[in-house]
Parts: sequence; C-alpha cells; structure tokens
Amino acid sequence: MTATNARRVLITGTTSGVGRALLEYYANGGASIICVNRRHVGELESQYPSVRFEYVDVRSAEDVDKLVRRLAASGELPEVFILNAGINRVDNDESFQLSAYRDVIDTNLYGVLNFVQPLTELPADNVQRHLVAISSMANYVGNPYGLGYTTSKKALTACFNVWSQMYANTDLVFQQVMLGPVRTAIYTMADKFPLWMVSLKNLFSAPLDGTVRAIARFALTRKKKLFYPWRACPLYVGMWLSQCLIPGFFRGRRTLEGKARRVEAR
Ligand SMILES: NC(=O)c1ccc[n+]([C@@H]2O[C@H](COP(=O)([O-])OP(=O)(O)OC[C@H]3O[C@@H](n4cnc5c(N)ncnc54)[C@H](OP(=O)(O)O)[C@@H]3O)[C@@H](O)[C@H]2O)c1
Repeated sequence: MTATNARRVLITGTTSGVGRALLEYYANGGASIICVNRRHVGELESQYPSVRFEYVDVRSAEDVDKLVRRLAASGELPEVFILNAGINRVDNDESFQLSAYRDVIDTNLYGVLNFVQPLTELPADNVQRHLVAISSMANYVGNPYGLGYTTSKKALTACFNVWSQMYANTDLVFQQVMLGPVRTAIYTMADKFPLWMVSLKNLFSAPLDGTVRAIARFALTRKKKLFYPWRACPLYVGMWLSQCLIPGFFRGRRTLEGKARRVEAR
C-alpha cells in the first residue's frame, strides 16, 4: 500500500486542524472516508459529497459502540481508525474547575478508548485494523497550561503501550502519534499563552500538510510510535531540563482570583 491507498479510513474530529487536513489528504488520495464529528458543518458536506459523515460525540461510549457495531454489521468497518478528536483547556491555575478537567479526560482519553472497547470485542475477520491515537510529545514532559491535557495524553500512552504489546502479531495494530506543536486551533491559543511560549512554538512547530502525510504513511506500517516533527524534540527536552533544574517551573499559575480565595500559609 502507498500512503494514500489505505482503502477505508475513519477519522474523528474533522471540523478543523489535523483532522480536517487528514480528511483532505485521504479524499485527494481516493480513499473511502468516514468522518466522526460531534456537529454538522454544512460546508464540509458540500465540499466532500462522497465522504460519509457520522455525528457522534466521542465522549459517549454508548454512541461510539453503536457506530462501530453498525459498521461491522454492514461490512463497512475501516482498516484505519485515526482517533484524533481532542481538546485543550487552560486549567493549570487556581481557577481549576473539575468539570473542565473531566471534559478534557472524557474527550482525549475516553474518546479514544470508546473505540477500542468494541473493536477488541468484535470477532476477527482477517482484516488488519490500525488504531492510530493522535497524542502529544507533551505527554512526556507535561503541558504547563493544561493539567487535564497532560493527564489524558499520559493515560492514553500508558494504555496504548500495553495494548501494542498485548495485540502484537494480531489483526489489531495499536499506534501512537506523538505530535509536537502543529499550527491548528489548539496551537493558536496565543491569547492564553505567554509570549515566550508562543515564540518557541512558532520556531519548532510543524506545518499541517507535512504532519498529515507523516501520519498517513505511519498508519500503513506496524510501528508503535511516530514522533513528529523531530525538530520539536529539543523544545520538549528543554522543557524537561527546565523542570529538573528550576524548582517550581511547572508549579501552575497563581491568579488574582485564586489569591482572593485562599489565605497565604505563613
Ligand atoms: N495542534 C497541536 O499543536 C497538537 C500538538 C500535539 C497533539 N495534538 C493533538 O492533535 C489532535 C487534533 O488537534 P488539533 O490541533 O487539530 O485541534 P482542533 O483544530 O481544535 O481540532 C479538534 C477536533 O476535535 C473535535 N472534537 C472535540 N471534541 C470532540 C468530541 N467530544 N466529539 C467529536 N469530536 C470532537 C473538534 O470538533 P469541534 O469543531 O466540534 O470542536 C475538532 O474537529 C488532538 O488530539 C490534539 O491533542 C495537537
């Protein structure tokens, strides 16, 4: 198979960013595509009339399960699942809200695991299926502005590390894409990030077209991990070193609102 000839592909979260670019890439390559989005975007449907759009919130285990079993029953289960839908919330400060944190975990972690459960339960049908989770290099060092984000990606890695071993040499291939910064909506939360972080991200970020080409090529292999782009690695090594050397580097931000609520310990 070449990069574009994966015949049937399911992609979650194609309304923007990496997912949308993947949709365009596979559509140009003539693949049969199922997009799983939580909301209707009329413009997408008119732009890609041959693509099938399923409206499912990936946080719903029940709805994802129904979708996977329906595709299996009709013989339309894709060979490649790119489990891309994800969110980030700036929650590493004193305005922390459990509901926002839970939302991130529900989307980034359970939004992937909800697909894994039915796929591991269905009887094997002699087709190799690739479950490609879009994760982040932040998983290794933490994201100073996203506590839920870091937690969800770390947990995802822990699960996929185990399953890629457990299902080695079977019809299920568990793969993880460790992305560095890519220019998308998540990436451009510039108003929420300090200038130094935005500048660093600009320097080390990857373009969308290169990113989706790399993901599609990777999904045709049985490799367990893809780190992309390599040039982002120094950024994450730098963040890791800063955490080791600078006490409190990732201590979370203190806010005026938080200070008003708490009494300083003397
Ligand atoms: N961009 C980066 O720098 C970067 C770096 C490392 C990893 N990643 C990972 O790459 C993936 C894609 O990120 P992105 O940058 O492309 O973000 P994005 O542009 O914000 O796109 C996220 C997509 O996920 C969808 N989504 C969110 N919650 C959903 C839900 N509950 N059910 C179904 N779809 C849902 C969004 O749909 P709506 O339009 O409905 O919100 C959107 O289509 C994420 O997993 C992210 O963690 C990105």
